[in-house]
Amino acid sequence: MKVIVYEKQKKSAELVLREVSKPVPSDHEVLVRIKAASVNALDYRPMQMGVGMPRSGIFGADIVGVVETVGVAVSAFKPGDAVMGDISGNGCGGFAEYVAVPEDVLIHKPAGVSDEIAAAVPVAAVTALQALRDKGNIQAGHTVLIYGAGGGVGTYAVQLAVYFGAQVTAVCSARNRAMIQSLGASEVIDYALEDVTASDRRFDLIIAINGYHPLLAYKRILAPNGIYVMVGGSLRQIFKSLIFGPFMSMGSRKMRALAAKPNVKDLEFVMALVASGKVRPVIDRRYPLEQTAEAMRYVSEGHALGKVVITI
Ligand SMILES: NC(=O)c1ccc[n+]([C@@H]2O[C@H](COP(=O)([O-])OP(=O)(O)OC[C@H]3O[C@@H](n4cnc5c(N)ncnc54)[C@H](OP(=O)(O)O)[C@@H]3O)[C@@H](O)[C@H]2O)c1
Repeated sequence: MKVIVYEKQKKSAELVLREVSKPVPSDHEVLVRIKAASVNALDYRPMQMGVGMPRSGIFGADIVGVVETVGVAVSAFKPGDAVMGDISGNGCGGFAEYVAVPEDVLIHKPAGVSDEIAAAVPVAAVTALQALRDKGNIQAGHTVLIYGAGGGVGTYAVQLAVYFGAQVTAVCSARNRAMIQSLGASEVIDYALEDVTASDRRFDLIIAINGYHPLLAYKRILAPNGIYVMVGGSLRQIFKSLIFGPFMSMGSRKMRALAAKPNVKDLEFVMALVASGKVRPVIDRRYPLEQTAEAMRYVSEGHALGKVVITI
């Protein structure tokens, strides 16, 4: 089978196409013939930082495909089933023609949702859900600021916040304004023209996904009892949130950091919204498996609008 593997070359390491033997599923595993995958920060960040590489050298957390064979102890799936999942908790391996994964990381792909659309969902949408609902305690009527709304996580965060009945202010570039408005944001701010953290606005919930502002600047625009959730952005922002967040949460306003986890119940929840048309995955570009390195490069530049999908 074909795989894209991160390999040491003479002077550097590169993503290269290789032919390897198909994995054999163990008793509790399912062998999936992958039809589509998508790129996330957790795929290219380890290459940038030099840590957290998957043991197999094969990246790819979001997978969609068809069950080829199952181990003897597998009960939830059978050959021919359309499945999907986030396999980042099991060493990744989605940028390949086949992968063997435990059955408990997969769900059935809802009928009527295409492979490419489904591949754009797991990591980004579940991250947005866990940020809004679990860390952010979102409630109907809340005023929610989504900072960095244009990417994979951001486009889901806007739509899920609207689904939960919040009033959404989204921050993105002028290029993405129309798209973000079409996802239900009541107000869109161009980050090049306006610094919302310097305004007299107040928000019940702030989800910081991309871009950089100091934690104190975000805290200043939180309403009393408001919650700030750091999802991503610059490494500086991530480290500061982890270190100073707990100290800055002494009063009524809370500063939290999210570490999203793969969760099949959460994935089923968002897939039901996708299948019913309440949430619409936004796909920027599609690349064939052979061009995965190019896809990773494009996403790592930080300006994709929504998701980038790998077709296999
Ligand atoms: N905490 C967790 O558990 C967790 C889980 C998943 C992801 N993350 C993190 O979440 C972040 C977003 O992931 P993603 O997959 O959504 O990334 P992404 O798709 O690569 O995000 C790209 C988007 O970011 C926007 N952007 C870039 N610079 C910006 C700025 N200065 N201000 C506002 N928006 C800006 C871009 O808009 P323009 O092109 O318009 O600038 C583009 O639409 C990453 O840092 C990732 O590591 C964290």
